[in-house]
Amino acid sequence: MSRIHVTTTINGDSTEFLCEADETLLDVLRDDLELTGSKEGCSSGDCGACSVIVDGRLVCSCLMLGAEAEGRTIDTIEGIAKGDQLHPLQQKFLEMAALQCGICTPGILVAAKNLLERNPDPSEEEVRYWLAGNLCRCTGYDKIIRAVLETAADMRGAA
Ligand code: FES
Ligand code: FES
Repeated sequence: MSRIHVTTTINGDSTEFLCEADETLLDVLRDDLELTGSKEGCSSGDCGACSVIVDGRLVCSCLMLGAEAEGRTIDTIEGIAKGDQLHPLQQKFLEMAALQCGICTPGILVAAKNLLERNPDPSEEEVRYWLAGNLCRCTGYDKIIRAVLETAADMRGAA
């Protein structure tokens, strides 16, 4: 089967790749583009570990084909920090110990960033609802929710 040529923008960089017709965006990111921050937890849209932002919308990259990236703008966990400057969410997660492992955390950060771009002042209920698609088996969610709420408050204060 001939491979499909795709032109897209990933983390601000114009990117081209070849993929199989049935290859997921997650596999393209991890296996072809060496962007391994997006994780494969379930491959069925249930865990959120593979979360990326496509044209501003939160997407499970395990449920999207690589070929569907044609012409799209994709942001992954690798693009969240700016050089050595961590995103405020990343900094707050460190300060508040809102993480234990590297499997769920990238997806949670990507999802939380997308939330704060849409809603800079979310309620606790809205944060919990937004992150309901991101599963963590080990921390409990409380520190994660607190970190997102505190980041939102800090970012509003800095605006
Ligand atoms: S790996 Fe995509 S939602 Fe779990
Ligand atoms: S910190 Fe990753 S699964 Fe909980």
